[in-house]
Amino acid sequence: MTEKTILRALKGEVLPTPPIWMMRQAGRYLPEYRATRAQAGDFLSLCYTPDLAAEVTLQPIRRYGFDAAILFADILLICQALGAKLWFETGEGPRLSTVTSAAEIAALKPADAIHDTLAPVYETVRILSRELPKETTLIGFAGAPWTVATYMVAGRGTPDQGPAHALKAADRAAFAALIDRLTDATIDYLSMQVQAGAEVVKLFDSWAGSLKGQDFTDFAVAPAARIIAELKARHPGLPVIAFPREAGQGYVGFAKATGADCVALDNSVSPEWAAAHVQVDGCVQGNLAPGYMVTGGAEMDEAIRHVVRAFSKGPHIFNLGHGITPDADPANVARMIEVVRGG
Ligand code: CP3
Repeated sequence: MTEKTILRALKGEVLPTPPIWMMRQAGRYLPEYRATRAQAGDFLSLCYTPDLAAEVTLQPIRRYGFDAAILFADILLICQALGAKLWFETGEGPRLSTVTSAAEIAALKPADAIHDTLAPVYETVRILSRELPKETTLIGFAGAPWTVATYMVAGRGTPDQGPAHALKAADRAAFAALIDRLTDATIDYLSMQVQAGAEVVKLFDSWAGSLKGQDFTDFAVAPAARIIAELKARHPGLPVIAFPREAGQGYVGFAKATGADCVALDNSVSPEWAAAHVQVDGCVQGNLAPGYMVTGGAEMDEAIRHVVRAFSKGPHIFNLGHGITPDADPANVARMIEVVRGG
């Protein structure tokens, strides 16, 4: 059997057509997702019901034939597994019980206690590895420690990650201990996903852009490097995608510094700049602005061709620069795939 296109790109092969998948490809822009979510009752029940989580993962594969499927789950499930309370306010987003002191950080459950809560996620991965088409790559994922910590400290999403920055400034040792706990748990969590059948893993550091200087080194680069080194020791050859979103200049050298096989790019960097400064070190993923999935038309076609062209001399996986939004038109997604594949 010829190797899957995503795995070939991750090994550094330059393919005539970039493989493609899309962040949040299972999501609210799809009527079939909304129907299954209604059947589950709420978002967390959907994440923790393996048959339904597998079903929504498969929906965009059936509809569009993406080259990869990403496990349906959420980066915040691990907080619950570590002992935090987690719920989603409809129309608003996640809410958590907060962790703001050295004592509360010490009281979190140890890494090896997370698997009871997360067992349904591993079952979803097992179902998917049986049911996906043979040419489709299965991607597992976790949030990077810094991004997960920003939610744990604040108890919700924040525009500037202020509470996490404040804890880091007030008690750097306690904050570093939280990052360490999350790093240990993330290693075990991703390792279990790989044992269950994930072929690639992706680390989402959605708020990496708010870490500057030494903080970026200590809390974005170092945890990613430790997670990737340990995963590759346990699972030789495992490809890893890292997404230090809005890292800007921090993208330069990120793959070398962390051992990632691929760096995912947000759409605030130009493809030409990223080809010259990031793709020189290996595979990149990205980076069409998600807004085009809402607006479509000739401008979308041109923007897609621009991304494909700019990255055509090196290894590239086509994706958006961030998740597709609920107001996107499913027809624009079909058109995007057609254009990437030469239409
Ligand atoms: O990409 C995929 O299709 C796989 C599943 C996936 C989800 N969330 C499902 C989801 C993945 C990989 C994530 C990652 C995630 N979750 C991130 C990192 C990526 C990013 O977007 O920056 C973050 C920060 C979260 C935390 C989170 N989950 C927030 C802030 C929200 C609310 C905001 C929103 O978009 O509604 C969620 C909810 C969530 N996670 C939804 C989905 C499909 C929407 C929930 C719903 O159906 O109501």
